[in-house]
Amino acid sequence: MHWALDRPGQRGLPSAWWQRRPMVPCFFYLSWPLCFSYFCPHPQIWARKLLPASWLLCGPRRYASSNFKAADLQLEMTREPHQKPDASKPLVFGKIFTDHMLVVEWKEEKGWGQPRIQPFQNLMLHPACSGLHYSMQLFEGMKAFKGSDKRVRLFRPWLNMDRMLRSALRLCLPSFDKVELLECIRSLVEVDKDWVPEGKDTSLYIRPVLIGNEPSLGVSCSSQALLFVILCPVGAYFPGDAMDSVSLLADPTFIRAWTGGVGDYKLGGNYGPTVLVQQEAKKRGCEQVLWLYGPDHQLTEVGTMNIFIYWTHEDGVLELVTPPLDGVILPGVVRQSLLDLARTWGEFRVAERKITMKDLSRALEEGRVREVFGSGTACQVCPVHQILYQGKHLHIPTMENGPELILRFLKELKAIQYGAGAHDWMLPV
Ligand SMILES: Cc1ncc(COP(=O)(O)O)c(C=O)c1O
Repeated sequence: MHWALDRPGQRGLPSAWWQRRPMVPCFFYLSWPLCFSYFCPHPQIWARKLLPASWLLCGPRRYASSNFKAADLQLEMTREPHQKPDASKPLVFGKIFTDHMLVVEWKEEKGWGQPRIQPFQNLMLHPACSGLHYSMQLFEGMKAFKGSDKRVRLFRPWLNMDRMLRSALRLCLPSFDKVELLECIRSLVEVDKDWVPEGKDTSLYIRPVLIGNEPSLGVSCSSQALLFVILCPVGAYFPGDAMDSVSLLADPTFIRAWTGGVGDYKLGGNYGPTVLVQQEAKKRGCEQVLWLYGPDHQLTEVGTMNIFIYWTHEDGVLELVTPPLDGVILPGVVRQSLLDLARTWGEFRVAERKITMKDLSRALEEGRVREVFGSGTACQVCPVHQILYQGKHLHIPTMENGPELILRFLKELKAIQYGAGAHDWMLPV
């Protein structure tokens, strides 16, 4: 079925009343204030009382604002829905996209345009577009899950909206209302909710993107921007019941982020240059990169995940530790969730503190390390079994230790994400 543009109000999408106003000949708009002023001594005051300002400012099809509103969403349904992926086959991450996407344009002189949900399609960009030349680009990664009651819910999307707005401001891209963007994303997921897979540990990955769309070559604030959101059904990160652990290359000559830099923002420019290092890790027989920083070789992140160590600290206290958000660490949503869960349990110390390779090596020698793992939206929690550091393979006994804490975190997260009940962390679609 095809839904033409401007058929809001259907499928639960609210609409702007002025969009639905019948077109009135323009002489009406132009002539009535003249007649009105003849009979009324204070026409502006009366006009303001009788008519909302927006009615005067916005023509039937014009729309511009410093914030876009979900209530103004336009919906165009695809005429050619794609076949949903075969549920019996594994879903490869980020290769299959749903039928629709959200698009909102911004222009310096006009502000945000009207948000629209439209058939998934290619973008048309000016060849000088600043998003392509100077990495004026940021993105987010979040997930929607189908609960055991078949309802679809988003996992802590408010944290992604916070992080996305921070990234936008860092790149001098336009600000937006986080609540309104989230409501637009919720509507997009609602439109494509049949694409949310139902298999074990599957989900719908949501990728919001904001790019500078300045059609000129100077390195400056973009006078145009484009926000869009696309969706991918994704399979289980660990197919089958077994959980795979990963080996890491820790080579301090490669640096992902630095103090005063932008590693704590989710900017596309942070990711492209890591591909070569990832390849280097593969060449040296490791699956991922452990990013070190500083002369003391601080552990910062694992690939595109935050890092955690569950150990007995040198003071003899059992603790879960992760590096603090000091400017080189991306504030991960799963990182925050693990910290929140562990703090509610209150069974061991939870610390956000600098960890160096020297600390880890000594703890390994003294048999104090229980589990090392990464956390991120893609895998949730990913165990580490080995680190290649200064020519030595350090064995990490994560898997030998259960991994008790990792399995507990995964169980708790799944109960929240796929559960039938309401939970503060889940936004129902
Ligand atoms: C560098 C980096 N660190 C950590 C994470 C984990 O963040 P989140 O838990 O929000 O997925 C990501 C995820 O994309 C990342 O790119």
